[in-house]
Amino acid sequence: MKHLFARSSAILLSAVTLMTLTVSSAWAEPAAAQTPIVMTGADRRPATSLDGDWASIVDPYFAGLYSFHHEEKRDGWFLNQKAKPGDPFPIEYDYAKAPRIKVPGDWNTQRASLFFYEGPIWYERDFTYKPKEHTHIYLHVGAANYRSYFWVNGQKACEHEGGYTSFNCDVTSAIHAGENFVVAAVDNTRHEDNVPTLETDWWNYGGLTREISLIEVPQAFIDQYDLHLKRGEGSAIEGWVHVDSGQPGTTVEVEIPELAAKTSAVTGDDGRAAIALTVSGLERWSPGTPKLYKVHVRAGQDSVDELMGFRTVETHGTEILLNGKPIFLHGVSIHAEAPYRTGRAFTDKDAETLLGWAKELGCNFVRLAHYPHDETMLRAADRMGLLVWSENPVYWALQFDNPKVLAEAEQQLDEEIGTSRNHAAIILWSMANETPATEARTQFIETLASRARALDSSRLITAALLVRAEGHTKIVDDALGNALDVIGTNEYIGWYEQHPETADVTEWRIAYQKPLIMSEFGGDAKAGLHGGDNDRWTEEYQANIYRHQLGMLNRIPQLRGMSPWVLMDFRSPNRPLVGIQDEFNRKGLISDQGEKKAAFFILQKAYRENAVGKPE
Ligand code: GCU
Repeated sequence: MKHLFARSSAILLSAVTLMTLTVSSAWAEPAAAQTPIVMTGADRRPATSLDGDWASIVDPYFAGLYSFHHEEKRDGWFLNQKAKPGDPFPIEYDYAKAPRIKVPGDWNTQRASLFFYEGPIWYERDFTYKPKEHTHIYLHVGAANYRSYFWVNGQKACEHEGGYTSFNCDVTSAIHAGENFVVAAVDNTRHEDNVPTLETDWWNYGGLTREISLIEVPQAFIDQYDLHLKRGEGSAIEGWVHVDSGQPGTTVEVEIPELAAKTSAVTGDDGRAAIALTVSGLERWSPGTPKLYKVHVRAGQDSVDELMGFRTVETHGTEILLNGKPIFLHGVSIHAEAPYRTGRAFTDKDAETLLGWAKELGCNFVRLAHYPHDETMLRAADRMGLLVWSENPVYWALQFDNPKVLAEAEQQLDEEIGTSRNHAAIILWSMANETPATEARTQFIETLASRARALDSSRLITAALLVRAEGHTKIVDDALGNALDVIGTNEYIGWYEQHPETADVTEWRIAYQKPLIMSEFGGDAKAGLHGGDNDRWTEEYQANIYRHQLGMLNRIPQLRGMSPWVLMDFRSPNRPLVGIQDEFNRKGLISDQGEKKAAFFILQKAYRENAVGKPE
């Protein structure tokens, strides 16, 4: 009884401890957690993959963080103890006997009992390793939704908050030659002060949802770099390379063999070397010519072999200029939902299927909503020639007056840009989606926009704004527009408001002389459900919305792009309508099983005939 009481109080205490971000206590883990670092091009480095089957233990009370055995001692499931005869206390977990779970992959779609699960789950796997002399070893995590903790051989490596960005934990001191084990705890519980907050219109897929590996680098290594084409006519590549733990004066080299171009520079006290490399014969990247070059980035003993395109993007009045020429963005929005199998997308096949459908639709542009998609998707966009709107999950009504929330949003922005800054495909960093136009919100997002500009001056800043209406006039005058280069606006005429035909009499009043992207519009349709143009949930109704939208869009003089909502049906807990939604948002132009709906062909025809937006 005593132990039972002690155990429950320990669980409560450990839960409280967790909530207060594991304030160090007499029973804190053996070693302080390291702060994870951002690595550019981690996926371009040789790595020891830890993907595959991991042991999993579902732990709704997070008992495993501190399992309580007796008064003076506490330990946790991160120690991976093995019961031995004569132990003075019971070991009440055993990874060897625990069910397996695949990594990468959300847990919700791997086990029926986890479909709606929100809480902590423990992961464990054994691995053998042979460390090289004088190297750093990083545990690379593509993403873990939402809060995650990592131990190697029982030693705390790091913890991380944020479900859609990659991070890297220094595990050098914990790994040894031979047999090792790694334990992770991932908790997808939503909290009001998270980013995103409690409410989202997508499934809270939990777990180690992207790749996980070990990356070995020299003591002084290239952690981040930014190489991009300078705006203007010429072919001047500019940027910088940062060397972590290097001596000032370290020589950095950038070489593009195909252009017989090479330059070198030395790092300053800040570890950064400025790069300037004028090349001749450069074929600029564009959707029509998605040319990628091998780029070798070297510093001391380290090197990264990148694959990059070079292009410029800027605005001029209400025009978006790609490589100096006006472009209209024929696009579509995409969630990272895996076609056919559903669940969090992460494979090359997932990326090529989704982006292949976008190309088939006639797109030159995709809005990767509402969180940073993975490197797999972005590399595919580079290869396939699709311009990208990348977005951080500042979605709906966050706690905009909470400094912890701003710090979290800034951390995720740093990770998003630091990881993905060299993808030619990305032209827009979106700061937010449909946030309420309060003073606190505007300040919060202006802070993010300034941060994004300081991190990356070569791209455009946008956000998807809510739009107010006066009768049949849509008014775009959200104060946040002042902080943006390109205005995004979402509207649902014909679905959430009035009727499809209302679009015919709707006018737009835009307070900013800036390019406008209609970042969302559309309506739900169950694939295969047919009826009249005014029968909701049918393909005909959805097609009717698109027909009337296209006419209205062509009457917006400064429209420079569109990304209708959404390419493919995606799972959301807000959509329970049996027989129609079944926990899916059905605004897809294609069902989660790849069935193209009538509206797909309406939009495809419009894009192919350049019937919407300014012809290229
Ligand atoms: C909103 C929101 C989307 C959501 C969509 C819908 O505009 O941005 O995330 O899925 O509307 O209601 O379907």
